[in-house]
Amino acid sequence: MAHRVVCLPGDGVGPEVMSEAVRVLMAFGIGFQEEPFGGAAIDQYGRPLPDVTLTACRHADAVLVGAVGGPRWYDARVRPEQALIRLRKELDVFANLRPAVADGIDLLIVRELVGGLYYGGSGRLDDGRVFDTCVYTRPEIERIAHRGFELARTRRHRLISVDKANVLETSRLWREVVTEIGRDYPDVELTHGLVDSVAMSIVMHPQEFDVLVMENTFGDILSDVAAGVTGGLGFAASASLGASRPGIFEPVHGSAPDIAGTGTANPTAMLRSLVLCLEYGLDEPEQARALEAAIAVALERAPTADVGGTATTREFGDAVLAALEVPVR
Ligand code: NAD
Ligand code: IPM
Ligand code: MN
Repeated sequence: MAHRVVCLPGDGVGPEVMSEAVRVLMAFGIGFQEEPFGGAAIDQYGRPLPDVTLTACRHADAVLVGAVGGPRWYDARVRPEQALIRLRKELDVFANLRPAVADGIDLLIVRELVGGLYYGGSGRLDDGRVFDTCVYTRPEIERIAHRGFELARTRRHRLISVDKANVLETSRLWREVVTEIGRDYPDVELTHGLVDSVAMSIVMHPQEFDVLVMENTFGDILSDVAAGVTGGLGFAASASLGASRPGIFEPVHGSAPDIAGTGTANPTAMLRSLVLCLEYGLDEPEQARALEAAIAVALERAPTADVGGTATTREFGDAVLAALEVPVR
């Protein structure tokens, strides 16, 4: 069956790593289309998420994102990042799965993605005060808690809920609701941790974590920390899932302005996001396993500069394609 994937390359290294994902889509014979997004869409249409892009995403089976943002738009009135913030909300992909895997480490951050500090009221008042607000409703916490417990069930049956309940009211409701939902999952060991000390623990002994569930901003920060202890941002993939399709699949990293244009970005995070897309978005587990295996071979044969190698983004992609065994259907 032909799948429809919408690819949103975006800015900086986004298009560079997306090119390698597109070559894999073609090798698998998966139908796709590219649409403008982020800074590239601001330049072309004056808007970071044009209607044509949003409509294509709504009708897709899955959405692949490269990265958005960059110095060109840092002082702009409209910012590329708004494209992602709005697209996540429009598709209601409330559960952002950010796995971090390396020797002896296998943790999964489950980041609430369409609420919390990113989506509460914000603004500037006439008296000079500026504000961002963290807001949650009980149902919003319930659904992400269920996702966290369900995922823990498919793994080592351990869930830590991360909050700042010693200070924040939203965190106190968060802890209360997660504890309640936990009664439905007696087979999952639930603990609670404060975000500051959990950040340190991820750095000190990441191997002790299984699944972590948390508010949007906490998840943004801790997922970069988790990437840092498992090889760096060049490796960190993510899947943003709602109650139904389409999901969004994107690297944790950004547009990497410091290396954009040099052709040296590590496309592993993008390709691993495609693995998650094949698995969770397109229901193609055999293709997911095949790509995963090919990435592992390429990491041995053609490491990129971020891990001390000399391969370019394209050469890494070549190594993936050379090792890729396309499942026969
Ligand atoms: P970044 O993630 O772009 O880069 C941080 C560091 O990691 C840089 O040194 C970069 O070179 C390195 N890096 C990132 N991806 C890499 C890869 N694939 N291979 C090798 N090295 C890699 O974060 P930043 O510099 O703070 O942000 C730059 C822009 O990206 C900002 O505009 C930010 O808003 C945006 N951003 C976008 C996303 C997204 O689109 N999902 C995510 C994070 C940041
Ligand atoms: C991420 C990014 C985004 C976020 C930005 C670009 C809006 O940092 O996906 O981690 O903060 O969610
Ligand atoms: Mn981030």
